[in-house]
Amino acid sequence: MPQREWSRRDVLRQCLTAGALVVPAGWGEAEALHAWFEVQKNLAPTAHCEMGPFYKTHAPAQSMMRTPGDRGLHLTVAGRVISVHGDVIDGARVEVWQADDGGLYDLDGFKYRATLEPGASGDYKFESVMPGHYPARVARHVHYFVTAPGYQPLTTQLYFATDEVFEGNPDRHYTKDPLITSRSLVRPVTLAGRPDAPLGSVEFELVLEKA
Ligand SMILES: [Fe+2]
Repeated sequence: MPQREWSRRDVLRQCLTAGALVVPAGWGEAEALHAWFEVQKNLAPTAHCEMGPFYKTHAPAQSMMRTPGDRGLHLTVAGRVISVHGDVIDGARVEVWQADDGGLYDLDGFKYRATLEPGASGDYKFESVMPGHYPARVARHVHYFVTAPGYQPLTTQLYFATDEVFEGNPDRHYTKDPLITSRSLVRPVTLAGRPDAPLGSVEFELVLEKA
């Protein structure tokens, strides 16, 4: 017989019954459920950043933005598009664009530009290189424009905790770039591969609010 699949709600009820979760006197099950799911589990929406001047519509659906011979640290960026409750958002579209290793945007074509559709899993991923610095901006970054039916559009930017401008201490120095609206946009880089052929990876979830 297949084992019954317990919902998170079932588990919480069982915890209350068994005394595994103790709530204040006077709370009923409704209060406990609200505290557990509606308040505690809420995620902070991803912070907004300005769009900047280099956005282009109709970027191709390409998760591999890097071509052989491109300069710069090979980089994989991945994450999920979710609601503040942690649920996958259906029909989301993620547009990304960034400068190349030398700090240049492709204004004529679509190099380092992509439109990604996460689908039912909510997962998105693209292969790129670490974006370079350019004179108008302090920190390396990838631009995002995320849309989904029923949700507020999100314009934001991903930053890298390894960026030289943060001097190894992004907690203290992320405000050196006045356009970084939240420390949460600055993400650690994980290196894999060989020392002579490293691959950096970064996780960046996108948390949208209802429209
Ligand atoms: Fe930019």
